[in-house]
Amino acid sequence: MHSTRPPAPLLAALLALLAALCCAPAAAQALHAPEIGQPGKDVVWVPTPERLIVRMLQMADTTSADLVVDLGSGDGRIPIAAAKRFGARGLGVEFDENLVQRSIRAAERAGVSDRVRFVRGDLFQADLSGATVVALYLSPDVMTRLRPRLEALRPGTRIVSHQFTLGDWEPDESMTVENRPAYLWVVPVRVEGAWRLVLGDDAYELRLQQTHQRLTGSAEFQGKHAPVFAARLRGEEIGFAFADRNGYPRAFSGTVAGDTMHGKALAYGQPESTWRAQRLP
Ligand SMILES: C[S@@+](CC[C@H](N)C(=O)[O-])C[C@H]1O[C@@H](n2cnc3c(N)ncnc32)[C@H](O)[C@@H]1O
Repeated sequence: MHSTRPPAPLLAALLALLAALCCAPAAAQALHAPEIGQPGKDVVWVPTPERLIVRMLQMADTTSADLVVDLGSGDGRIPIAAAKRFGARGLGVEFDENLVQRSIRAAERAGVSDRVRFVRGDLFQADLSGATVVALYLSPDVMTRLRPRLEALRPGTRIVSHQFTLGDWEPDESMTVENRPAYLWVVPVRVEGAWRLVLGDDAYELRLQQTHQRLTGSAEFQGKHAPVFAARLRGEEIGFAFADRNGYPRAFSGTVAGDTMHGKALAYGQPESTWRAQRLP
């Protein structure tokens, strides 16, 4: 018997065309172009220029080992640049669903969907446990509210911010690109307290006070105290100096690992020596 039905492949093609025609305008409508200055939950959307993004990620020493988390990720450009230019993994947290969907599409177009993820959510609730770099372009008020969480990040985590600072937590580095400032903080390890520092045959009691990455204190040897100077932390890296038992200034550099530190000490005209320290109870 002769059939009037179109062959199956033709039918499938017709149905696909019909679906595309009826759904395309809806999808285009759902993903409208954002407008600079449009309201967001806590701050408006204003994108960071691409050139500044690259410089910020360079300032954070971003590599393929990093997870770059952008809090309030807008159209996704920071996590995408982190993946595309630095080989990092990226996570964007954004409250606006339209911006999230645009970010997902942009990551596909950039060919980095395998390394970048975008989630709709409130930046104050975001999971930062895996973050090694946190990117921010927010507002003074949001920076203040976020600060306790940023201070609690793992030592060595880098925080980069376009335009806004963290109050009296001074940045480790800053720069300006096209009149726009950007800042870097490296979350410092906690070293405040007393340490037994061994240098050669000598043992000093090192007492440190800490305000973020800045350190002050003193080193005591057999009842003689010398002030600690030029002392600073960058993540888990420490540097400080004091006059040794003979009155010679010594510059110490090293690494902090939990309740121990170790590194190299330099004194003018003397060979480099090693030192180590143990936290005192
Ligand atoms: C100034 S824009 C920065 C966008 C992007 N980080 C950049 O630098 O190009 C801030 C973004 O944060 C989003 N935002 C505001 N409040 C938020 C919140 N509570 N949680 C998540 N995203 C938020 C806004 O929708 C906007 O996209």
